[in-house]
Amino acid sequence: MRVRRLSSLIFAWLFVLTAATTVTAQPDEDVLELNSSIIEVHTRPVVQFSHTVHLDDYAIECSQCHHVYQGGENVWQDDDPVKKCQECHNDPTTKNELRLPAKTLNLKWAFHRNCIGCHREYNKENNVEAAPVKCQNCHVE
Ligand code: HEC
Ligand code: HEC
Ligand code: HEC
Ligand code: HEC
Repeated sequence: MRVRRLSSLIFAWLFVLTAATTVTAQPDEDVLELNSSIIEVHTRPVVQFSHTVHLDDYAIECSQCHHVYQGGENVWQDDDPVKKCQECHNDPTTKNELRLPAKTLNLKWAFHRNCIGCHREYNKENNVEAAPVKCQNCHVE
């Protein structure tokens, strides 16, 4: 019994090690909690984001959300590593951002512009209200 347990433990470890060293850009989890650490205090409930809904059900391309800009062009490709948005959009400021130019790379603005921007367009084009644009439909209590 002990031996078996031990060997399955070792096996589990090997599995973890292999999984961790495999370079893959595929999302690990279906649903991510968007809880960026540079926002020290979240004033709204944390947003749950599903890759599956967006990828499988709506066939949205990775590069609609993931990017690395070079000379104004998005050169990020599907197998490239993914950085958290806050690594580049590293200013959490949540005040007065409508008055700031886009280039300040403010984090809340980046998320809202990406998420709400597409949802608005999608709803308008399809004459529906399916994609959430209201605060409480993303920041769900
Ligand atoms: C509709 C927007 C959207 C699309 C489309 C999208 N992602 Fe993401 N992805 C995100 C967001 C948001 C995060 C979290 C970023 C953060 O925490 O700063 C994320 C995180 C990730 C991560 C890191 C976290 C994890 O789960 O491992 C990987 C890897 C990733 N995406 C890969 C992909 C790939 C590959 C595709 C296309 C097949 C894709 N994503 C399509 C929005 C998207
Ligand atoms: C490697 C750095 C980097 C990462 C990671 C990154 N961004 Fe950006 N982002 C930029 C740069 C640079 C620009 C371009 C700013 C400009 O030229 O105006 C930009 C522009 C944007 C824009 C405006 C242009 C557009 O594409 O609509 C949005 C919205 C945005 N980012 C959202 C996000 C979100 C959401 C994430 C995470 C899923 C993310 N960014 C991750 C660097 C990054
Ligand atoms: C390029 C377009 C696009 C982008 C970018 C995008 N979405 Fe969506 N999202 C959609 C569409 C399309 C739907 C589905 C509408 C429907 O149900 O018909 C959707 C649905 C949703 C839903 C409701 C379904 C569910 O998962 O419970 C949530 C929540 C959501 N999106 C959150 C986000 C967040 C958070 C972001 C930014 C990190 C984001 N979306 C970025 C297109 C987009
Ligand atoms: C389509 C989804 C979506 C909608 C709609 C939306 N947000 Fe957000 N919001 C986000 C995401 C994603 C973040 C980034 C959270 C993180 O990474 O920590 C965010 C961040 C924030 C933040 C900074 C973090 C915090 O909790 O203090 C505030 C404030 C905020 N949103 C307020 C609002 C308000 C007010 C509305 C309505 C006018 C709204 N949001 C609508 C997705 C959404």
